[in-house]
Amino acid sequence: MSEVFPRWTNRLPGQILFALLFLLGGVAAGVNYYFTPKYARVGYQPSQPVPFSHAIHSNQLGIDCRYCHDGVEKSWYSNVPSTDTCINCHSEVKSADPRLELVRQSYKESKPIDWVQIHKVPDYVYFNHSAHVNRGVSCVECHGRVDLMEEVYHAKSFSMSFCLDCHREMMPETHLVQKDINGDLKGIHEIAKDNGITIAQLKGFNGYSEDISEKELEKRLLRPGQKINISAGDPNKRLRPLSEITNLSYNRWDDPDFINKNFVAHWHIKTSQNCSACHR
Ligand code: HEC
Ligand code: HEC
Ligand code: HEC
Ligand code: HEC
Ligand code: HEC
Repeated sequence: MSEVFPRWTNRLPGQILFALLFLLGGVAAGVNYYFTPKYARVGYQPSQPVPFSHAIHSNQLGIDCRYCHDGVEKSWYSNVPSTDTCINCHSEVKSADPRLELVRQSYKESKPIDWVQIHKVPDYVYFNHSAHVNRGVSCVECHGRVDLMEEVYHAKSFSMSFCLDCHREMMPETHLVQKDINGDLKGIHEIAKDNGITIAQLKGFNGYSEDISEKELEKRLLRPGQKINISAGDPNKRLRPLSEITNLSYNRWDDPDFINKNFVAHWHIKTSQNCSACHR
């Protein structure tokens, strides 16, 4: 039976499947291409004039993002570095490497390199880097693991719901469940445990500062008829200490110093869903 068809046909079903997938993929990509502005496209990865690698410079060499993108903390805008920044090192390092020819030329002629912009929100959207970075929102939340990219690509969709989902998640009201205390709970530790939250969060959700003592908190919360606020989620999950803002591999849950930290309360975070916050 196996002699009827020549041997090469064994691979045929695979090839057909591949061709079909390729076609389907092509149609999907085409739809995506024509109906989405290019800067909103997840996966958009233009090739850059110089093969600059974040994986080498950030991950391997450990250069902080802010050494090059030094506007992020101070302004709404996160700049791409000027050629001078590259030349600080590359006047010495790989000073004859052909891949850096354009960099040397740009420096000599004082003409900026034409980096292709990848991330952009439409002009009718107001966005501010420093407002986020100084409130513990890390680059990785919006740009993905840039430190591991050989060539930067658009990792997340900058749709309106992308922004709103996070803003909503951090609005304490959306997490709070009012609960009546009728003396059936024994103490704040029990309340916290029952709801899978920490004492620090219990303080934060009820508007008490972190330094109020547990005894005092208990006194204020555990009165008959008193309503207390209990979180139904963790509004802190996308926030971190400022010292770790550019450490894209940082995980708050592995850091005993910060695992229970209530950043939302500490920084009095008030995210907004008002149209006028982003459309001014
Ligand atoms: C703090 C020093 C430093 C700065 C600033 C710096 N580089 Fe580099 N770069 C290096 C070092 C070191 C290497 C060599 C890494 C290796 O070979 O492992 C390198 C390698 C490269 C390479 C070769 C990549 C490869 O595959 O080996 C290119 C291209 C490059 N850099 C471009 C740039 C550009 C463009 C800038 C400015 C935006 C820049 N570098 C800024 C230190 C720096
Ligand atoms: C040595 C300089 C250097 C360092 C360090 C560096 N970058 Fe960059 N970055 C660049 C250059 C040059 C570009 C423009 C070329 C490109 O897209 O690769 C860029 C582009 C980007 C872009 C895309 C910009 C656009 O057009 O939308 C993002 C996002 C970004 N960097 C984030 C980061 C983050 C996050 C870190 C830290 C983990 C970091 N960068 C560290 C030099 C640097
Ligand atoms: C809350 C989301 C968010 C965070 C956090 C964030 N970015 Fe951005 N980033 C954006 C948006 C949105 C844009 C497009 C801005 C625009 O169109 O004006 C952008 C654009 C950029 C650009 C391109 C600027 C240009 O004009 O070419 C760079 C570079 C960049 N970000 C780097 C960083 C770095 C580095 C960090 C961390 C220190 C960071 N971003 C943190 C959302 C974010
Ligand atoms: C990972 C969470 C997160 C994401 C994603 C996010 N934001 Fe925010 N945003 C915040 C936090 C936290 C603040 C600070 C609120 C405060 O300071 O009380 C903030 C503040 C703001 C503010 C007020 C800034 C000011 O100047 O007062 C604007 C506007 C805003 N964000 C727009 C955006 C837009 C547009 C996007 C999407 C491109 C976005 N945000 C995505 C968390 C986020
Ligand atoms: C946290 C920031 C933020 C808030 C708050 C916000 N928007 Fe947006 N909005 C955006 C972003 C970002 C885009 C661009 C989306 C894109 O490029 O696909 C957008 C796009 C739009 C668009 C263009 C159509 C579309 O969906 O692409 C309309 C209309 C709009 N918003 C209306 C509103 C209204 C009405 C509200 C209040 C209920 C609102 N927005 C609140 C961030 C926000």
